[in-house]
Amino acid sequence: MAEAFNDRTIEGDKPARYAVVAEEIAAVLEGEPNLVARMATVASMLAATFEAYFWTGFYVVDPDRPGELVVGPYQGTLGCLRIAFGRGVCGTAAATGETQIVADVAAFPGHIACDARAKSEIVVPVRDRSGRLIAVLDVDSERPASFDQTDAEGLERILKQAFG
Ligand code: SME
Repeated sequence: MAEAFNDRTIEGDKPARYAVVAEEIAAVLEGEPNLVARMATVASMLAATFEAYFWTGFYVVDPDRPGELVVGPYQGTLGCLRIAFGRGVCGTAAATGETQIVADVAAFPGHIACDARAKSEIVVPVRDRSGRLIAVLDVDSERPASFDQTDAEGLERILKQAFG
């Protein structure tokens, strides 16, 4: 399955690509209970599907340090290790429980610039089956205004399927 996935590109427009990659992620995760393995797989498969995904990964709610996110599985350049709830785009998504779409990161108050190439981003809260926040998924793009409602819906669906 991994070889077959890595060997080709998912074609079509953005909604179609989200639908196809959602099915493929579900197939790969089938029967795998480990959370790190699941997050690593989701990050890899999403990053391989969309050209705009420059940095793709999880910031996990740290059980040992309340109010902090700690970096989890990701694809991309070096990310910050920790982000406090309420700080930056990831911390805002964690604190509010709402997906954040930021067209221009320079205009977002308190944005944390891990890599100056990131120009726009989307951050989606990740919940477990009981509805508890376990992480956020952060996707950054090198271009401004890369993400819209289609991305929010596509990612929310995939994350619910993978972790809910
Ligand atoms: N841009 C994020 C920080 C994380 S990284 O860019 C990998 C933020 O403001 O939350």
